[in-house]
Amino acid sequence: MSAEPTRVVIDCDTGVDDAMAILYGLLSPEIDVVALSTVWGNIWVETCTANTLRLLEIVGRPDIPVAEGAGKPLVGPKWRLGDGVHGADGQGNTNLPPPKLRASGETAAEQIVRLAHERPGELVLVPIGPLTNIAVALALDPEIASLYREVVLMGGNFLVPGNASRWAEANIWHDPEAAQIVFDAGWPITAVGLDVTLKCMLDQPKLERLRASGTPAGVHIDRITDYYLTRYEARRGRRECAMHDALALGIAVDRTLILNQRRCRVDVELNGTHTRGMTAADLRIWAPVDQGNANVVLEADGARFIDRWMEILSR
Ligand code: RIB
Ligand code: CA
Repeated sequence: MSAEPTRVVIDCDTGVDDAMAILYGLLSPEIDVVALSTVWGNIWVETCTANTLRLLEIVGRPDIPVAEGAGKPLVGPKWRLGDGVHGADGQGNTNLPPPKLRASGETAAEQIVRLAHERPGELVLVPIGPLTNIAVALALDPEIASLYREVVLMGGNFLVPGNASRWAEANIWHDPEAAQIVFDAGWPITAVGLDVTLKCMLDQPKLERLRASGTPAGVHIDRITDYYLTRYEARRGRRECAMHDALALGIAVDRTLILNQRRCRVDVELNGTHTRGMTAADLRIWAPVDQGNANVVLEADGARFIDRWMEILSR
């Protein structure tokens, strides 16, 4: 871990695992959350914005800007994955009072472009929702691809099935065109997909420890995760839930969590009847290495990350 904190810009569709990531970023001494932006995905973008602002209030960080972004994909109608996983409010149907804080008024894409120029080479962009805002920012100013230090995104499924469809992971599936634009932009990308995030599972005993810690972040995660856990239990038979976004942020800050990764060419299926939104990575042993556009994480130390995450949120 370097002495300097990792400076991140997080683009999120604040649902439950987004909150796990954002609170970790706000509380970890190894991370400086420079700004947040919101995108539709788990829930409508306005609700994602409110959920994100509430997290800043919970940890007393009203100074961090939140810029609201896209409410629908680049192509196709406005819609969302549904309430089935994160709840109708994106926070486990806890129906918490609205935050007092307000979004900055800048759009997500404008904020992403502005920060690239204000802090060239300093910032890691961490998208943990659909990639619509990132694609719009690239359209506004393609030069940002050389101004961000790196992109570490939660998205894709490379050797495992999808979750939003048989073949596609939710963040990519929500906006495949945007994802292809992001993978084609020429910047350094680390893709943290379902291959590793579905092995980074938070269980009930850990949640009870978080609640017992009495910290504002621990109490909030405990109350918003019950519904998320129940949905996972209903589908998988075990009371444990994936910390997708939190692991992606953890890897952005500590690369030693990566146990196996491959540099390869990743494309996004845009036309397949059954496969639209699939991340098609060329993982063949004879694949030409110089055509790689992303580091795909295939194995990660989720257990060590969860221990670190628990320590940060409990103190
Ligand atoms: O597939 C998991 C991803 O989709 C996570 O980012 C989760 O928050 C949802 O957005
Ligand atoms: Ca997310």
